[in-house]
Amino acid sequence: MQFSTRSGNPVRARTHCLVLTVLGDSLGATAREVDKASKRALSRVLKRGDIEGKAGQTLILHDVPGVAAQRVMLLGLGDPKKLDAAKLGTALRALASALGRTSAKSALVCLDGVAPPGEDAEWSHTMLAEALESSTYRYDDMRGTPPANGPTLETVEVLAADRDAAQTASDALTAGSALAAGLNLAKDLGNTPANICTPTYLATAARDLARTYQRLKTTVVEEKEMRELGMGALLSVGAGSNEPSKLVVMEYKGGPKGDAPHAIVGKGITFDTGGISLKGPATMYEMIYDMCGAASVIGTMKTVAELELPINVLGVVASAENMPSASATRPGDVVKTMSGQTVEILNTDAEGRLVLCDALTYIAKYEPKTVVDIATLTGAIVTALGAHATGLFANDDGLADELLDAGTRSLDRAWRLPIWEDYQSSLRSPSADMANVGGPGAGSITAACFLARFTKSYRWAHLDCAGTAYRSGTARASTGRPVPLLVQYLRDRAAESAEGQPRTRR
Ligand code: BES
Ligand code: MN
Ligand code: ZN
Repeated sequence: MQFSTRSGNPVRARTHCLVLTVLGDSLGATAREVDKASKRALSRVLKRGDIEGKAGQTLILHDVPGVAAQRVMLLGLGDPKKLDAAKLGTALRALASALGRTSAKSALVCLDGVAPPGEDAEWSHTMLAEALESSTYRYDDMRGTPPANGPTLETVEVLAADRDAAQTASDALTAGSALAAGLNLAKDLGNTPANICTPTYLATAARDLARTYQRLKTTVVEEKEMRELGMGALLSVGAGSNEPSKLVVMEYKGGPKGDAPHAIVGKGITFDTGGISLKGPATMYEMIYDMCGAASVIGTMKTVAELELPINVLGVVASAENMPSASATRPGDVVKTMSGQTVEILNTDAEGRLVLCDALTYIAKYEPKTVVDIATLTGAIVTALGAHATGLFANDDGLADELLDAGTRSLDRAWRLPIWEDYQSSLRSPSADMANVGGPGAGSITAACFLARFTKSYRWAHLDCAGTAYRSGTARASTGRPVPLLVQYLRDRAAESAEGQPRTRR
């Protein structure tokens, strides 16, 4: 999709669809202009009551008199006094899907600078581009014959009042499409079934990214080196699989040389059978999504590189396939982690924390500013938060707040749970330094407490996205979450570092 800005009279724009806003019972500013030119055609439609102007309502009118556009879409934003980010997000997604149901190839969107409280038009245009690019996403790679009629929309213009507005809108559209590109990559990786999406496949995806973006370098730690590094926990997870495990390291260098990176670390279990502690058959197929944390890391790295953010970012994927076999790890086995701490593996289905703990130890050598791991770690987080919020855990309140704020702003929300010392005792093992599972209660918290034992040397947060990274049921699909949260978080850090720098460059 091509995005651009445009000024001048929207009435004369030769576009397939002119998108105008309706705020409750009144027309938006540009809509009022068009109304005049069309001898009150829009006012009459409003009066008849086919659109009430609620957030997310759309109405398409053809051949409006006095208007050059083929169609006019009225987009409801609701009562302007009650407008918030969630409502505007809903409206922009509705715009995208309504446009997708037409055969329009071009559109001119006039948002009149509308924005939720605390944000500006930049937010709205970023969200617009994200919504438009995401709405055309489909996963058809596995179909024998791909469906014929794909999306038709090719070019989208937004109306900008002046040069400044045009520049802001243009930057926002670029940011929104870069975000969508990362989101769509994360969705693709998540949706690819486990017979194709192996740890090797994820490593190849990360290498491919480094080929596209000059500032990105990918290296892969293979099993032989993992053994030399003492990564007994990570290696124990893939022990039953024919697929070799991989620790993928993506280094993005956009900031000053030697500047400490922000690290993101993803769980990349390409299929989780549970291992010898085998899962039940009912929904085991959903475990193709157990690499969605890794997918969100790779997707975020794509967006970061696309936006050329002026910071250093380290993206790490800890990948293995959790299978039962004669060589698989047994319940009761004790392994030694790279940190030197030993773990009694009471349940081979609690494998995510085992691959992550060694990855989290490994990255300490980069002396990261912050570390965020992302994992479909526990079924318990789905019980606690459902599909709406990602679980957040952190050993640093400042970092937790920054992530919560990034989630709110990007409409990809997280909710914090505690990792108090009180919970640690449930991981006690009679023989080893710790067990890999806690008691029956607070499964997401004890999983986070396990990780906390490996992240003491830096500011760290853990995102449990088991409920948010994919949808279950017949509309089963990867959502790409929490790429929007991660991208927002890193863009905020980039903005901060730009402010902190002397303004010598013009
Ligand atoms: N990948 C699962 C967590 C999961 C469950 C993700 C459901 C998405 C939906 C993880 O590896 C796992 O199996 N966790 C166990 C931990 C338990 C054995 C302590 C769980 O949540 O049951
Ligand atoms: Mn598991
Ligand atoms: Zn798992």
